[in-house]
Amino acid sequence: TSPSAPKPPLPKAELHLHIEGTLEPGLVFALAERNGISLPYATEDALRRAYSFTDLQSFLDLYYALMDVLRTEDDFADLANAYLARAREQGVRHAEIFFDPQAHTARGVPMGTVIRGLARALDGAQETYGISTRLIMCFLRDESAASALETFEAARPYLDRITAVGLDSAEVGHPPSKFAEVYALAREAGLKCVAHAGEEGPAAYVWEALDVLGVDRIDHGVRCMDDERLVARLVADQVPLTVCPLSNVRLRVIDDLADHPLPAMLDAGLLITVNSDDPAYFGGYADDNFTAVREALGLDEEALRRLARNSFRAAFLDEETRATYV
Ligand code: ADE
Ligand code: ZN
Repeated sequence: TSPSAPKPPLPKAELHLHIEGTLEPGLVFALAERNGISLPYATEDALRRAYSFTDLQSFLDLYYALMDVLRTEDDFADLANAYLARAREQGVRHAEIFFDPQAHTARGVPMGTVIRGLARALDGAQETYGISTRLIMCFLRDESAASALETFEAARPYLDRITAVGLDSAEVGHPPSKFAEVYALAREAGLKCVAHAGEEGPAAYVWEALDVLGVDRIDHGVRCMDDERLVARLVADQVPLTVCPLSNVRLRVIDDLADHPLPAMLDAGLLITVNSDDPAYFGGYADDNFTAVREALGLDEEALRRLARNSFRAAFLDEETRATYV
C-alpha cells in the first residue's frame, strides 16, 4: 500500500443504532414508489432540507412520519441490508440493532412482519457482510406502560430472536420507572435490558434506569456529568454508556461538538462507546462519529482504540466470541 493510502476504519461494535434511523432519502422514495404511497416532498433534496432539528421531538416527528413507507417484510429486510452494507464500510464487525415495534404495529403492520423482515437480513449478515448481529426491541416511553406490556406479549413468539429490550422516544416526562413492570417481565424471560436515559432528561432518569429497571447499559447518558455521585456509581460498576456524538449535536443536546463531554467522560473512567443513533438523519455512520470526535475533540489514536475496545467489552457477546474481537 502507498504511504498515502487511507487507513481502514478501526474494527468496532455498534451498540446504539435505530434501524428506522438508517432510512435514507433514496430508500424512502424507492419504498414509497413500491408501496404506492405519495410523499409530501417532491425530491430527495427537498426531503433532506427537512433534516434540521431543534430538539429530540422535532426529529422524532419526521422519523415517525417517514417510517410510513415501511410496510412489508421485504421493506424491513431491504432497510436492514442497506444498513449492514454501510456498516461494513465503517469497520462495524458487530451490531446490536434497535427497532421500535409500536411505531409499526400502531400503523397496522404486524409484529411478525417487522421481526421476520429484519431477521431475514440479520440471518445472512455474518456471511454477507462479516457482521454479527443482535436485535433490541424498544418500547416507546411516550406511549403507556400498558402498551409496552401488550407489545412485549405480542413479541413473545419471537423472543428467541431478541437479545434485549430498550426504551426510547420522547424522554422528558417519561421516567424509566413507568416501565418497571415490563422490564421485570423481560428480565424473567432471560433478556438483557438497556434504556435511553440522560439524553434530554435529567441524571435522575439514569439512576432510575439503573435502580428500578436494572439495565445492563445506558443509552446516551451524557447528562450523568451533572451528578458526581452518579458518575462514581457508573464508574464503580463499569456500566457502559452508548454515546452518540453527532446525534447530540444535531438534536442540540450539545451546542458544539468541540464542547462535547466525551473527553471528560473518558477521563472520569466511564466505560464509553461511540455510536451513530440515527445515521441517515444525523450526518454520519459509526466511523464518521469516530472521525468527528477525533477532529473536533483532538482524541488521539490511543483514545480511539480504547473506544473501539470498549464497544466489544460492552457488547452482548458470550466471552468466547468476545475474545475473537478484542
Ligand atoms: N428514537 C430514535 N432515536 C432516538 C433518540 N436519539 N432518542 C430517543 N429516541 C429515539
Ligand atoms: Zn437512540
